[in-house]
Amino acid sequence: MKSLALGVLLLCLSLLWPTPAEGGSSGFHKVSNFSWENCDDGHDPVVITSLEVEPVPITIPGKVTIAMETKTSVPLTSPLKAVVTLEKEMTPGFWLQIPCIKKIGSCTYKDICETIDSFIPPGTPCPEPLHTYGLPCHCPFKKGTYSLPKSGFQVPAIQLPPSLSSGNYRAQTILSQGHTHLGCFKINVSLAEK
Ligand SMILES: *[C@@H]1O[C@H](CO)[C@@H](O)[C@H](O)[C@H]1NC(C)=O
Ligand SMILES: *[C@@H]1O[C@H](CO)[C@@H](O)[C@H](O)[C@H]1NC(C)=O
Repeated sequence: MKSLALGVLLLCLSLLWPTPAEGGSSGFHKVSNFSWENCDDGHDPVVITSLEVEPVPITIPGKVTIAMETKTSVPLTSPLKAVVTLEKEMTPGFWLQIPCIKKIGSCTYKDICETIDSFIPPGTPCPEPLHTYGLPCHCPFKKGTYSLPKSGFQVPAIQLPPSLSSGNYRAQTILSQGHTHLGCFKINVSLAEK
């Protein structure tokens, strides 16, 4: 079990789900009903070809195993924009968009490359498990397939804003560069507080 690498969070999960920037002590949460898809049936230049998260439900804080494969048919260079839309199901079938508060919610990240550099200073080794598998953690990312074999992470206690209470959520992330659409991913999760 390796300690949680911010780099992986950024590279993998932030493509799907806004990354809480701050740690902190808080109550327990459970994440269940986890499902994901590429919006455009996998025809975009950047696609997630597999993503496995175990166990479900995920307990926060707790241990989680992630395996993931991402494919890009174009090089990914700065500035790489990500637009995240996060919605909560208020009543069955009615989804309300959650605003961007402290970088969590429906946020626009102007350049993910810059965000990554702020967490992992360029010139330092990539955090585990990226380092072990020889995976890069900075832009530019060459075109190709990036595979992260099953890796264990410790999910820290995350201080979630009050707007993120128990319920069903869906998130969409659109990746683009200038006017070029690069990729789009969706996830559904249910969050329960303990
Ligand atoms: C999310 O859930 C909705 C309705 O339950 C379903 O139609 C949709 O395909 C799901 N999306 C993903 C990414 O699993
Ligand atoms: C899982 O999703 C379904 C459909 O959206 C919902 O009815 C159910 O309550 C969810 N399960 C949990 C544990 O939240």
